[in-house]
Amino acid sequence: MKKIAIIGAGRVGESTAHNLAKAELCREVVLIDIKEGVPQGTALDIQESAPIFDFDTKLSGSNELTAMAGAELVVITAGIPRKPGMSRSDVLDTNLAVMYGIVDVMRVSAPNAMLLMVTNPVDVLTYAAWKRTGWPRERVFGMAGVLDSARMASFVAMETGFSVKDINAMVLGGHGDTMVPMTRFTCINGIPIEHFLSQEKIDKIVKRTRDGGAEILSLRKTASAYDAPAAAIATMVDAISHNRRHILPAVAILQGEYGLHDIGMGVPVVFGERGMERVIELPLATAEAAEFKKSANMIQADLERLKKQ
Ligand code: LAC
Repeated sequence: MKKIAIIGAGRVGESTAHNLAKAELCREVVLIDIKEGVPQGTALDIQESAPIFDFDTKLSGSNELTAMAGAELVVITAGIPRKPGMSRSDVLDTNLAVMYGIVDVMRVSAPNAMLLMVTNPVDVLTYAAWKRTGWPRERVFGMAGVLDSARMASFVAMETGFSVKDINAMVLGGHGDTMVPMTRFTCINGIPIEHFLSQEKIDKIVKRTRDGGAEILSLRKTASAYDAPAAAIATMVDAISHNRRHILPAVAILQGEYGLHDIGMGVPVVFGERGMERVIELPLATAEAAEFKKSANMIQADLERLKKQ
């Protein structure tokens, strides 16, 4: 890709810019934030690491949203983060207004871009952004499942002592308390985790995965997770920029898959140069389907509230 715009130069935006540049996933990264000097300073700081990390990607910072002009991919990280005790939905109203402001400029300045939503509540905001753009769903998607799955894989590695490189975890559903860690599809080099872990241990891993974001926030107190989220974003961008056709869990707009219409939610999808190229529909066991539905209902409740506003 030639140009990627990252909106929001907070910790997620900064870490994402660095990851994209280090991996040379595009020729140019522009960081945009309303805080005067912050995106410029951050871009320069990262740029000065280029001789050490040996990358050619050019970075710049701007306080103007129109600096995203011509971007092929826009990553939205801007918005207020959660404070301890707040749910992801609690920040909805503020972040929705921020997102509409960004998307309205994007439709004019980067009309052919893809949009990767990161700001929470990510399922609802991905859907609302997709509606606002009027773009095909292939070009509007959100990051959650790669992060949640990485957390689950980390916890499986911690619990079993096996190499994290052998662990493949899958977390679907909404990015919230009702996310659906799919233990049936979580394997260590192809061997289902049930072979190594008791049900009690698996239940603990599932709970810790669901609470993964809150665990980091409660430790740091003033900052949500950003290292693992930024790594997850880079994985998605890598799949797109290299047209890898990588299967990754991500927030996609569902149009009939899993029996759901007109909702944004975490499902396995194929990422390639056209963005979210295909939703993979897995046959769910009864209990999994019930959890998936519960998760969808939570997102739907937020969406209903939006429609009334
Ligand atoms: C997390 C928050 C940021 O999962 O959603 O870390």
